Amino acid sequence: MADIPQQLSSRHLLGIKDLSLKDIELIFETADTFKEVLNRPIKKVPSLRDITIANIFFENSTRTKLSFELAQKRLSADVVNFAASSSSVSKGETLIDTVNNILAMKVDMVVMRHPYAGAGVFLSKHIKVPIINAGDGAHEHPTQALLDAFSIREKFGEVAGKKVVIVGDILHSRVALSNILCLQKLGAEVMVCGPTTLIPKFISTLGVQVETNLIKALNWCDVANMLRIQLERQDIKYFPSIREYGMMYGLNKKILDSLNKEIVVMHPGPINRGVEITSDVADSKQSIILNQVENGVAVRMAVLYLLAARK
Ligand code: CP
Repeated sequence: MADIPQQLSSRHLLGIKDLSLKDIELIFETADTFKEVLNRPIKKVPSLRDITIANIFFENSTRTKLSFELAQKRLSADVVNFAASSSSVSKGETLIDTVNNILAMKVDMVVMRHPYAGAGVFLSKHIKVPIINAGDGAHEHPTQALLDAFSIREKFGEVAGKKVVIVGDILHSRVALSNILCLQKLGAEVMVCGPTTLIPKFISTLGVQVETNLIKALNWCDVANMLRIQLERQDIKYFPSIREYGMMYGLNKKILDSLNKEIVVMHPGPINRGVEITSDVADSKQSIILNQVENGVAVRMAVLYLLAARK
């Protein structure tokens, strides 16, 4: 597209709320190029040679951490990994001291996951290098939303006009908020579905539809993004039992086959098979879960490249 700018409007990626539509389009166009690179026999380009990136994870991760590390290595960056559980954080070192010590070793960019909402914004006020938020508490997970929207665009050709329902634990999900903001910027219609206790009261102010009946939501949508119940963030009981949640909001093959159209099924992972989604749905031809994971590397390469290239 001729009118797409050549650099991002922000020097960090802290949340989708900071990105314009043109930023997202630039990330997608750049990711298209990197996806082509990833399908070559030699999957490595020299774009970030001499750039050192620290991945600092204060919370567990499989997909995001590996995906960022692979994206960095495919771009020829030097990578250092930091896991809070095996660090001096357990001896009482603060976040700012920890990061400043890492930066004193001449690191050029930081990718951070943290259990507290706003940790990336806080850090951005104290350090000079670009920060990418790899998930902050129940707030935002911007690269997950970008890879989800990129996967919808890949499947349908465009995101605009598509109907996407996000099902499950909306209250505790950073994926839900980032997805809502990203999909709306791209012109999709968004619905959330789940038990009333897991849908925040403010959600309708974001312009999303709210539905508590799973079958109605699935018959409305083109895409269902099935979220994990975030038991680790739940301080009280929000539903009687996991079994009952699965009966009311779990997607199984019988339900999928009974719908009035063939929908696409997504999941950000990690999956709790048999709770929010059964194995025969997760592994069905309607599922694009592994395409999401594959696209995550190309999308993260694009974000890293564009932030490093920003003047
Ligand atoms: N989707 C996602 O953030 O997964 P991880 O927690 O494994 O990184």
